[in-house]
Amino acid sequence: MTVVGPFGVSVRDQALEADVQAGLAAVEAGLIEATKSDVPFITETAQHLVRAGGKRFRPLLLLLAAQFGDRDAPGVVPAAVVVELTHLATLYHDDIMDEAEVRRGVPSANARWNNSVAVLTGDFLFSRASTIVADLGTEAVRIQAEAFERLVTGQIQETAGPREGEDPIAHHFEVIAGKTGSLIAVAGRMGGLMSGAPEPVVNVLAQYGERIGVAFQLADDVLDIASDGQESGKTPGTDLREGVATLPVLRLREMAAKGGAPEDAALCALLEGDLTDEARHAEALAGLRAHPALRAARQDALVFAEEARRTLAPLPEGPAKEALAGLCDAVADRTA
Ligand code: IPE
Ligand code: IPE
Ligand code: MG
Ligand code: MG
Repeated sequence: MTVVGPFGVSVRDQALEADVQAGLAAVEAGLIEATKSDVPFITETAQHLVRAGGKRFRPLLLLLAAQFGDRDAPGVVPAAVVVELTHLATLYHDDIMDEAEVRRGVPSANARWNNSVAVLTGDFLFSRASTIVADLGTEAVRIQAEAFERLVTGQIQETAGPREGEDPIAHHFEVIAGKTGSLIAVAGRMGGLMSGAPEPVVNVLAQYGERIGVAFQLADDVLDIASDGQESGKTPGTDLREGVATLPVLRLREMAAKGGAPEDAALCALLEGDLTDEARHAEALAGLRAHPALRAARQDALVFAEEARRTLAPLPEGPAKEALAGLCDAVADRTA
């Protein structure tokens, strides 16, 4: 059993391991190539987060999905580059919206330069992704465009919050499916499509991507509260500081509304208040870390990871299917 890639998926089969390693290396080269500009400053800002690393979760998933067809087909690596570039563009933009100062263990682009540089670099990355996807055919362009629409819709819905009377947890799952599930579903779909896998297989891979994508985001939101920032490469508690209610907070509110422990109401009130104050922020973070709501949110992540695994059932047995199942464990393990 070897662990492959920065995200770390366990692979037992040597041929698969070599193939995924080679694919990831080709994606790295493609990312560097795609982020070169004639204007040196743009190359610098665009490569800032490329070179900082990241888990490359979406390219990994795409390469594994391509194992169900001709994995050496010419569109596979470019498609993985497109998905990662699109993801990267959204990170530049997301860090502006979230006023995040650290990303991938380095200063975010908005912190290092300013919001204008960060928004334009995000646009530049998206343009480069569009140029590459144009060569992959109109279907690929449509898939990419539709997913991007879902992604920004999810981001806007998160900003807007639930409608009057709407269940906040149902709204939250919809937000996450849009902002994160959509692009990870594209990774699954494009891996299948570019390798020429049969249509039912492509659909399974897309559905798998959507579900593991939701699990991935839920796990990441748990980590934002539970981790110390070493592992995530981000500042812990950013969501709390920005007043973005992720699932641990929503589960807490749900528990408090149903009665809950006497101190739940106080914690809810603290979370409603201004958490840009360091002392209040630290108190809220500590309160949530110790609260059963965090465990409940963790459990929700595991449920989606398990659903993703079940989606794989119709796929032919083999090392690639095993690796995709292993990815579900790896996502679930992040919350532990
Ligand atoms: C960050 O994505 C946004 C989420 C969906 C949680 P990643 O966690 O994949 O970020 P990188 O690419 O590893 O930096
Ligand atoms: C991630 O947003 C989703 C996108 C970038 C589209 P988040 O705000 O939840 O992710 P992090 O925590 O900044 O990585
Ligand atoms: Mg963010
Ligand atoms: Mg955000």
